[in-house]
Amino acid sequence: MADRVRIYEVGPRDGLQNESTAISLETKRGFIERLVAAGLREIEATSFVSPKAIPQLADADALLPSLPAAAGVRYPVLVPNERGMARAEAAGATALAVFTAATDAFTQHNIGMTVDESLVAFEPVLQRAADLGWWRRGYVSTALGCPYTGAVDPHQAVGVATRLLELGVDEVCFGDTIGVGVPTQVAALTDAATEAGIELRQIAYHFHDTRGTALANVVAGLEGGVRTFDSSTGGTGGCPYAPGAAGNLATEDLVYLLDAAGYEHGVDLERVLDAARFITAALGKPLSTKVGQAGGWDAATGRAIGR
Ligand code: HMG
Ligand code: MG
Repeated sequence: MADRVRIYEVGPRDGLQNESTAISLETKRGFIERLVAAGLREIEATSFVSPKAIPQLADADALLPSLPAAAGVRYPVLVPNERGMARAEAAGATALAVFTAATDAFTQHNIGMTVDESLVAFEPVLQRAADLGWWRRGYVSTALGCPYTGAVDPHQAVGVATRLLELGVDEVCFGDTIGVGVPTQVAALTDAATEAGIELRQIAYHFHDTRGTALANVVAGLEGGVRTFDSSTGGTGGCPYAPGAAGNLATEDLVYLLDAAGYEHGVDLERVLDAARFITAALGKPLSTKVGQAGGWDAATGRAIGR
């Protein structure tokens, strides 16, 4: 049986939160419908954060209930506090992600709390989500480097991940928020996590491709046994509170690699490229990802596909 990888799509959330072009609710829904049609089954749809902090996602309350209820599709949403939880519940969410970081300096800029304070804020949120039977993820941002304090020791990131797991999250996701990490660091982080008792199935990686290292980091994650990777169709994304956090790893680049390497994932490359063209056109940008430009490649004929 082929080795299976989960592709966790963050385009509608991480991709759109940092874009200056206003995107209508209908366009967001059209993007998400195309992602579902491409076979993506975990699509981080939006954030229930302060609309003053992220005006791009201020329509979360209306967007989430408008999404297609496709079988086996999960739409996790970002929730920073109890206020966000109440909104997410009212909008019909069934899965959430809380988000903290390896470094206090980053969480203070991002959510106005230290790491310790963020974990205190998440406790009632995660408890309520557990009572409701929701799927729960916990992000550890700046796991491979911080825009405010520099290098991060893997044990620091793992310590935060362990505390999130103690609060009941189903998985932890280590974020290379500003795309500074390299494969040796990913290998060291996976080792540190498993040595601390975190199971491989509880680990996800979220790479930004700011310096072109995201796919190499995925390979390091795969070699270490991790099987869940985040990506953003069209390669959009970034965090407004992380200077230099340009571009998430593009879903089309990830799908190409996984297909060619023989991993099973259930996502159709040509349909991802359709969705990528749709969202970059709406943003008024060219599709500048590698596979977006070159297309896929049909090994039977040697021709490019999906261009
Ligand atoms: P604050 O200003 O410190 O909190 O914000 P506050 O409690 O003092 O509230 C201030 C105002 O916001 C009040 O309104 C609250 O009612 C309102 P006012 O009285 O001024 O009119 N408010 C809310 N409104 C709606 N929904 C809410 C909510 N909470 C408060 N949930 C807060 C603290 C956390 C809310 C704020 O800093 C915030 O929303 N930050 C969001 C940051 C964010 O979304 N960042 C991007 C996502 S993280 C990321 O991209 C990294 C990731 O991709 C992984 C990686 O790459 O590493 C996940
Ligand atoms: Mg991110």
